[in-house]
Amino acid sequence: MNDATAQPGEARSPGISYQQLLDTDTHPVPDVLRLESPRYLGNDDIDVAHYTARAWHDLEVQRLWPKLWQFACRDSDIPEVGDHVIYEIARSSYIVVRTDSDTIKAYPNACLHRGRQLKDHAGRCSEIRCAFHGFAWNLDGTLKDVPARWDFDHVRDEQFSLPECRVGVWAGFVMINPDPQAEPLEQFLGEIIEQFSVWDLADRYTQAHVAKVIHANWKIAQEAFCEALHVGATHPQILPYLADTNSQVDIWDNFARVVTAGGSPSPRLDWAPTQDQMMRAMTDTRHDEASPLPVGDDESMRAVGASASRDRWRSAVGDRVDEMSDAEMMDSIDYTVFPNFHPWGAFNRIVYRFRPNGDDHRSSIMECLFLAPFQGERPANVPVHFLNESETFLDAPELGMLGKVFNQDLFNMANVQRGLEATHKPGVTLANYQESKIRWLHQKLTQWIEAPT
Ligand code: FES
Ligand SMILES: [Fe+2]
Repeated sequence: MNDATAQPGEARSPGISYQQLLDTDTHPVPDVLRLESPRYLGNDDIDVAHYTARAWHDLEVQRLWPKLWQFACRDSDIPEVGDHVIYEIARSSYIVVRTDSDTIKAYPNACLHRGRQLKDHAGRCSEIRCAFHGFAWNLDGTLKDVPARWDFDHVRDEQFSLPECRVGVWAGFVMINPDPQAEPLEQFLGEIIEQFSVWDLADRYTQAHVAKVIHANWKIAQEAFCEALHVGATHPQILPYLADTNSQVDIWDNFARVVTAGGSPSPRLDWAPTQDQMMRAMTDTRHDEASPLPVGDDESMRAVGASASRDRWRSAVGDRVDEMSDAEMMDSIDYTVFPNFHPWGAFNRIVYRFRPNGDDHRSSIMECLFLAPFQGERPANVPVHFLNESETFLDAPELGMLGKVFNQDLFNMANVQRGLEATHKPGVTLANYQESKIRWLHQKLTQWIEAPT
């Protein structure tokens, strides 16, 4: 609805809607992309303190991270019994360990003797032994060994097992929740399980995993990827092929999504790109270079691009690609699971995670994983490529063209933090529809922070 009589939250961008675009697909579109779940969540400003206040960070540390399901690692990161990773969030650290072929457990990374962290690195072990005095636990968390046992007659084995977090696995993602009373993972995730059933992310390996410290609160970093409104100012080079403000935004309970069409020009352009210009923009081809995929005026760049993408994925996915829609080949299907986990649908391959950088509320760790399909033997997951302070995303060539785009996003993040600390305006103002995922994130956040303890 584009007229001035639209109710709040009902106005939409000029140009073709995402659902109208799906009507032109050359292949059947899966039901998941036909879902629509817009939610008008009000238009109040979001308190700047969410990003800037140490006190707000402390509330997150107390009330958010200890109680929420969160993405800790891929189950393929710990394929063998005894394989473990360390998952850190704010002040907390957890050991996530495979205890038998079907079981993964997570323990607070702290010795029950005098508290030293039990594991300093990821690796493989046959027991969990503390480096300080040598107390040891079996992989299943039961007490194994106490040095000078004669001096610890007050230690009861059955009361000295490692405390456990809740653990669940969805689509190859190991999710942990430190709260033993937490609702089951399946209940927390809800309908997203069904929605992702067409894109089985369990059947992927980690092809790229890039991390970088960002000099902004974790929510500022994350929200740079939660709407397409910024594309016009931040990434103008992609407007010829990306329908930025025609994105569809859907909100469910604990997850939400923004779906942005590729191969459909931005309605904000004041010129009409040819089909070939759209392809040149998508393939990042300079005007003095030959296009790798020339498109005639009588062809659809979206269809040509989708066809090329099917060919690209055919060797890994098989002929199933011939049943998949142009939308799945071309569009950005950007899901967010509250609070900080962003698995994308179809073959974008992207998964983002954003965490506070230790106990610092003014910096964060941004991670981008590519989960790629494969055929035959599962390739090993790559290790994390942690960019150092002086490196940019262009120093991670495994990101391909995304590196340039991320650098443009990076250019804003620390400056948003600085601006929010300088502003005299107490809140940030959000678009009713396009930025409703950000409003949903903050409303959920506030609910958790204000929940009775
Ligand atoms: S602190 Fe771990 S054995 Fe003493
Ligand atoms: Fe961006």
